[in-house]
Amino acid sequence: MQIGIDQLAFYTPKTYLDLVDLAHARGEEPDKYRIGIGQSEQAVIPVTQDAVTLAANAAVRVVDDTNRDKIAMVLFGTESGIDNSKSAAIYLKRLLKLPDNIRAVEIKQACYGATAGVQFAHDYVRLHPDKQVLVIGADIARYGLKTPGEVTQGGGAVALTISAEPKLLNLDDATAFRSEDIMDFWRPLYRTEALVDGRFSENVYVDFFKAVWQDYQQQTKLTIGDFTAFAFHLPFTKMGLKGLRAILPEASEDQQKQLMTNFEASRQYNRQVGNLYTGSLYLSLRSLFDNADLKPRQRIGLFSYGSGAEGEFFSGTISDAFDVQASRRWFTDFFRSRQRLTMTQYERLFSQQLPDHDVLLDLSHDDARFVLTGIKHDQRQYLDRG
Ligand code: CAA
Repeated sequence: MQIGIDQLAFYTPKTYLDLVDLAHARGEEPDKYRIGIGQSEQAVIPVTQDAVTLAANAAVRVVDDTNRDKIAMVLFGTESGIDNSKSAAIYLKRLLKLPDNIRAVEIKQACYGATAGVQFAHDYVRLHPDKQVLVIGADIARYGLKTPGEVTQGGGAVALTISAEPKLLNLDDATAFRSEDIMDFWRPLYRTEALVDGRFSENVYVDFFKAVWQDYQQQTKLTIGDFTAFAFHLPFTKMGLKGLRAILPEASEDQQKQLMTNFEASRQYNRQVGNLYTGSLYLSLRSLFDNADLKPRQRIGLFSYGSGAEGEFFSGTISDAFDVQASRRWFTDFFRSRQRLTMTQYERLFSQQLPDHDVLLDLSHDDARFVLTGIKHDQRQYLDRG
């Protein structure tokens, strides 16, 4: 029996910042951002969207009357939680009208949370092949105006269903993981913006990748020649390139070309959206699916990294039922309909934060189906306009 990713959808708001505008405003060379960092644009998230609404707007595309009753768990990976106690998965479950006889929990380990969800889901479906698990990665990446991390901001959500006989990717059972207490990136409870030791975080990412790649090869006896493509956690797309370059010399010349071509396909969407934290690896996988020329049975390697730090290398093969036409159309329409912000609009949107008292938000600039309307009696108020 094959188990893996059956559906994979993405959502982010249409407002975005062109990073050439950001470079000019910050006195940097545009090529530092476009080539040195590998980013062209970044999503800007209005105050009327949070991790719950981003997730709901993505998940509504993978949950409908054909699978609602099959979903046994909602595993919500995020590091942009809206409550220290109650999980975002419970709010999401209500917005999606999922039945009450399911488990719904939030998972936190920086950008690794959604991968923990995927692996737990894989094990669960192995025992309960008639069930599906909804896995979410939803975040808003914030470093602050005029910080070195500003160019690597972004946000959005991915929603995956994990099932038996999946339509996209059959996950292999082998997986290699590693965790270590490291202060490369963190966000204390009292802060809305992350703290980061930038260069150190890049080095730890590559070290973790090399370690789990070694471990995976020892376990499976597979080598780089067995892989058609790799998808990476992409906090910014140059980071994945640094990971790939660390192992590329192991491949033949022809295969190096193929891996580089497929890497370009895998970073196309992320380049235009920015960091999604927990969702980044899966947006990159979606980008690879939609923009590379993949065939059934080809093997893809996936590297997930969450600062603090946890890394995992796992793999899967393209399903026989693989079809990406609808997703390609969705992304083409989405990128065409986006609204480019001026620097002033971006700085205003970025600085609007939810207050810690009752508030009614202005929804006129947010056309999403699920929106945050405000706070009443210390409770977030959500609206489904569907
Ligand atoms: N043309 C082309 N390239 C140029 C250039 C130009 N005109 N000017 C500079 N560059 C290149 C530099 O040579 C450098 O390349 P290398 O990394 O290959 O050496 C690159 O542009 C970036 O330049 P700097 O290192 O000077 O950039 P910086 O000091 O402003 O900061 C950063 C870069 C450390 C990534 C910073 O944006 C940051 O802190 N980001 C957030 C942290 C992060 O994303 N870390 C990733 C690992 S942690 C993780 O993965 C979890 C997560 O999601 C956060």
